[in-house]
Amino acid sequence: MPELLRVENLKKYFPRGSKVLKAVDNVSFTLQEGETLGLVGESGSGKSTLGRAILRLHEPDDGRVFFEGADVAHLGKEALRQKRRHMQLIFQDPLASLNPQMTIGQAIEDPLIIHGIGTPVERKQKVAELLSLVDISPEFINSFPYEFSGGQQQRVGIARSLALNPKFIVCDEPVSALDVSIQAQIISLLLDLRQKFNLAYLFIAHDLGVIKYISDRIAVMYLGRIVQLGPKEELFKNPAHPYTKALISSIPRIPRDGKQVRRYETLSGEIPSPIDLPSGCRFYSRCPVVLDQCKNVDPEFKEISAGHWVACHRCN
Ligand SMILES: Nc1ncnc2c1ncn2[C@@H]1O[C@H](COP(=O)(O)OP(=O)(O)OP(=O)(O)O)[C@@H](O)[C@H]1O
Ligand SMILES: [Mg+2]
Repeated sequence: MPELLRVENLKKYFPRGSKVLKAVDNVSFTLQEGETLGLVGESGSGKSTLGRAILRLHEPDDGRVFFEGADVAHLGKEALRQKRRHMQLIFQDPLASLNPQMTIGQAIEDPLIIHGIGTPVERKQKVAELLSLVDISPEFINSFPYEFSGGQQQRVGIARSLALNPKFIVCDEPVSALDVSIQAQIISLLLDLRQKFNLAYLFIAHDLGVIKYISDRIAVMYLGRIVQLGPKEELFKNPAHPYTKALISSIPRIPRDGKQVRRYETLSGEIPSPIDLPSGCRFYSRCPVVLDQCKNVDPEFKEISAGHWVACHRCN
């Protein structure tokens, strides 16, 4: 599969008084066409900021974001607008992403109008197609978002994100706010659409269970950094980083026939503040297997097997 997206040393810092909050700090990865990269990490680890900085909804402080060959992080306004057609975002809270004054038909048509695509008749046709793609009957075209359930609102959000034929979608916790039964339906819809349109997803979630189901590769984020990145099976077989092990051990599981289930130590305490980060490994204050050097030396991000990268002194 050809490469679609290449993120290089991306940084997004927020000023906090006289200090700096390093929400995304030197993140690099690539994404192939049609591939799903799952991005997992605790609340505050910088997942949403990373997704937004890639789309330039947050202006990055440093780094490059190559999408279809152009560096989106440094494009001028008009060129960025054109590229954005192919890069979309699906939000956690579909209702907040939809204008309450617009009918769902208008909400889905809106991106087409903004980009001057089609005649009114062609646009209406496209809206009907998009609604049927997400399994909403066209008879609801004049309904308002508040008349819909959370799952249906998310379907509308997805239809809107597809209006401009994107190749890449940042899915920022698209099912976290939904009931479990509805989550499965929305995930199944996202999988169908990926297949139909060869979409690439950056799929953000807290829940490794969901990530495991949908992703080809997984990136684990901790305090603004990717600490482990690898193919899904490989990462679960060898969750080399102690933080990844802790995330895996937090997935609820039922042992089968008394067969031993591998357990790792769970995490204690909360994620520290991304302000005033220590000079060594960011995880050392919570790490169950910490070494002396971890307090002072930032571990390198190293490839431990083909395409499988880890930042941990224990793995080097
Ligand atoms: N617009 C902003 N201004 C200042 N600080 C911000 C802003 N957005 C995020 N942050 C900070 O950046 C850090 C990362 O936040 P972010 O929302 O990216 O985390 P997240 O991994 O998406 O968390 P969650 O799982 O809760 O959605 C947090 O410390 C947050 O307080
Ligand atoms: Mg978030």
